[in-house]
Amino acid sequence: MSVLVTGANSGIGLEFVRQLVQLEKYPRYVFAAYRSKGKIKELENIKKSSDRCQVILIQADVTNKEDVKSLRNSIEEIVGDKGLNMLINNAGALRIGSYGKLTEEDMLFHFKTNTVGPVTVFKEMLPLLVKGNESKPNGELFQVKVLNISSMAGSIGDLGEIPLELVESTISYRTSKAALNMAMRSIAIALKDKGILMVNMGPGYVITDKGSTSADVAESVSLTIDVPESVSAMLKTLPTLDQSRHGDFMDRHGRAIAY
Ligand SMILES: NC(=O)c1ccc[n+]([C@@H]2O[C@H](COP(=O)([O-])OP(=O)(O)OC[C@H]3O[C@@H](n4cnc5c(N)ncnc54)[C@H](OP(=O)(O)O)[C@@H]3O)[C@@H](O)[C@H]2O)c1
Repeated sequence: MSVLVTGANSGIGLEFVRQLVQLEKYPRYVFAAYRSKGKIKELENIKKSSDRCQVILIQADVTNKEDVKSLRNSIEEIVGDKGLNMLINNAGALRIGSYGKLTEEDMLFHFKTNTVGPVTVFKEMLPLLVKGNESKPNGELFQVKVLNISSMAGSIGDLGEIPLELVESTISYRTSKAALNMAMRSIAIALKDKGILMVNMGPGYVITDKGSTSADVAESVSLTIDVPESVSAMLKTLPTLDQSRHGDFMDRHGRAIAY
């Protein structure tokens, strides 16, 4: 079993790596993709201390097509015909703005990182995921082959329940996550015959690294949780999901979220 986690050097992605290597039925390989070389100390520590599962660190900016291609090549060299069993499309960014600061640059930044990036990673990994699915159709761990880390913020249906200041300061981010949901739901429908089970999941309002924008936003919402709690809930939910949930948008417990 092999898993790729993008944005693996921080917050939710880093915690996925930490918890995946500790699972009772742990993956053989965890490919941990990070963008910034200067911020991988914690990932390196997990790699060093993981004696059962092999953690492989690979640099990749998800908005850079060449990086994503070479990420695929590096994974393929290791997994060969066994393919990749799971992609956790986690890398994402949030810059707080306001209606007044809603610029083209801000919208394109979020769209490129949170929508185009995960779609590019998915497209590049698809042949490996298909191979992985052929060699282990039900996976060793989960039936889910693609977990897109989306956000409640991307829900148009639930928007009315969010405090006004929070809506106003995150318009570009919300738009990019709603677009991610639509892109991935459409892809899920288009690829139904391939048997690649894909879901879009909101991790909750998670307090990540102190001082990070995500943490600041999470702190402004009442129902916050910490990173281990969010990731362990998602890892607990994953084995319960089967093809009947293909293309669904859900929270970390598997409860449907309105698109
Ligand atoms: N925290 C929350 O409350 C919350 C709620 C809903 C959804 N989410 C989603 O959860 C995911 C993880 O966020 P987080 O809360 O863990 O925040 P985080 O601690 O800021 O982590 C984000 C990760 O994504 C990486 N990243 C950003 N842009 C990238 C790019 N262009 N290429 C590759 N990697 C990139 C970052 O790398 P660098 O270290 O190099 O910047 C970092 O590793 C995101 O998709 C976010 O939208 C979070």
